[in-house]
Amino acid sequence: MSAKTNPVPAVSAQGARIPLLGLGTWDLRGRVCADMVEAALRLGYRLIDTAEMYDNERFVGEGLRASGVKRDDVFLTTKIWPSHFAADDLPGAARDCLKRLGVSEVDLLLLHWPNPQIPLPETIGALCKVKRDGLARHIGVSNFNTALIEAAWKATSEPLVCDQVECHPYLDQSKVMAACRRHGMAMTAYSPIAQGKAGGDKVLARIGAAHNKTAAQICLRFLVEQNIVVIPRTSKAARLSENAAIFDFSLSDGEMAEISALSRAGRRLIPAGFGRPDWD
Ligand SMILES: NC(=O)c1ccc[n+]([C@@H]2O[C@H](COP(=O)([O-])OP(=O)(O)OC[C@H]3O[C@@H](n4cnc5c(N)ncnc54)[C@H](OP(=O)(O)O)[C@@H]3O)[C@@H](O)[C@H]2O)c1
Repeated sequence: MSAKTNPVPAVSAQGARIPLLGLGTWDLRGRVCADMVEAALRLGYRLIDTAEMYDNERFVGEGLRASGVKRDDVFLTTKIWPSHFAADDLPGAARDCLKRLGVSEVDLLLLHWPNPQIPLPETIGALCKVKRDGLARHIGVSNFNTALIEAAWKATSEPLVCDQVECHPYLDQSKVMAACRRHGMAMTAYSPIAQGKAGGDKVLARIGAAHNKTAAQICLRFLVEQNIVVIPRTSKAARLSENAAIFDFSLSDGEMAEISALSRAGRRLIPAGFGRPDWD
């Protein structure tokens, strides 16, 4: 089954409708990036995740146009790198993203990482203005812990629709999740298959055998079952359909508990950046 035969469900968050499944594009470059974006959209994916830092927005735009899928039907996310967080820099950086992508607005513009060097109210104010100026339909944050989520909400005049954070069965993100829920935000899981490691997990594979699914599919299902948006990346066309075939079965409470038990302290793959080791 593909996402095409079964449209991807979406979560509602602060006025946004965000597909529960998208394609991550970190480290996809050039033709491979354009081809994977095109193939994913043809298959039924409706969310593409990129960032100015990935150096691939031009190819994401190419794939988008080659797919033939209407622009309005695709939820396009990009992210502003922290070196562009000053009020004078952020609008120009956002315009450069749009230029590279070849679109007039993105669906979601995120702050990629917190930047303690620049006051958060200044950055959030600039992000809100970019939204009001029509460059982004929705705005949000990434790699924000609970304290920063609270600070961002104090500073914002526009709704923040999501926090994109590292999230997979090996990392307990329940605190950030609770903060997102309190504010009606979606949580998006990056590295949702633990950068491929979940694909070889024995517990996930055993649960998968009972559902005729792979370990990676069980891993993704575990997240979407909690209404967490997943953006797995792959450079292989066959895995696009594997990663999309997660909406035709569900996990029992016992299976969910067994997968939750895989999380341990210190299982973070991406180190907390910008001098913020104390994460939650
Ligand atoms: N906001 C942030 O700071 C941040 C940080 C990191 C990532 N992200 C976003 O999140 C996306 C996903 O995270 P990620 O790229 O770090 O890791 P990921 O999606 O968890 O894992 C990607 C790796 O898993 C492999 N893979 C894909 N499907 C598989 C399957 N069905 N079975 C086994 N292995 C599989 C891929 O290899 P193949 O290519 O060989 O399939 C690739 O090596 C990124 O691409 C990016 O868009 C955001």
